[in-house]
Amino acid sequence: MKKIEDYVLSIPDFPEPGIIFRDITSVLQDPDGLHLAIDSMQQLIGETEFDVVVGTESRGFMFGMPLAYNLHKSFVPVRKKGKLPRETVSMSYDLEYGSAEIEMHSDSIRPGQRVVLVDDLIATGGTVEASIKLVEEMGGQVVKVLFLMELAGLNGREKLKGYDVASVICYE
Ligand code: PRP
Ligand code: ADE
Repeated sequence: MKKIEDYVLSIPDFPEPGIIFRDITSVLQDPDGLHLAIDSMQQLIGETEFDVVVGTESRGFMFGMPLAYNLHKSFVPVRKKGKLPRETVSMSYDLEYGSAEIEMHSDSIRPGQRVVLVDDLIATGGTVEASIKLVEEMGGQVVKVLFLMELAGLNGREKLKGYDVASVICYE
């Protein structure tokens, strides 16, 4: 049986020289790859009790939404700056390549709600660190941080000390 690693394509020098881009479109475009990815992430949630899946734009939507749907939880998006129409909370952060600002609607998480944060991949950890800050600013409690892939060489986990972090596969 194929593993997730067998579906991920690694593209050298994209989007800039020196970066190895781990492409998840090749996972999603195969029905077996798609099932394996979602089922594997769902297994890592296990018996964790929670209320909301928070997914980060855009690849976090692709994995967060099916998990929320399968587990009958709500889904809240973290969006890139300027996309949300109502009052927001926002945070700037650095990426493996470049920087960005993300936002959530300021009423999207109620105080005390338990959140599983989902993204396709952790690289430097900047995106997930900023997302956690937004959730916590609204009074949410991050009970799990979940990725399909982890790029361990970039030490993103260093930013997540004290959180329950899980990933399906890990690249050194
Ligand atoms: C990618 C990826 C993660 C983030 C990881 O998103 O989907 O969200 O980078 O990098 P980090 O751990 O260094 O923060 P990107 O901002 O490229 O946006 P996209 O999902 O819309 O492609
Ligand atoms: N996001 C940040 N770094 C990445 C990488 N190396 N591959 C895919 N997405 C990324």
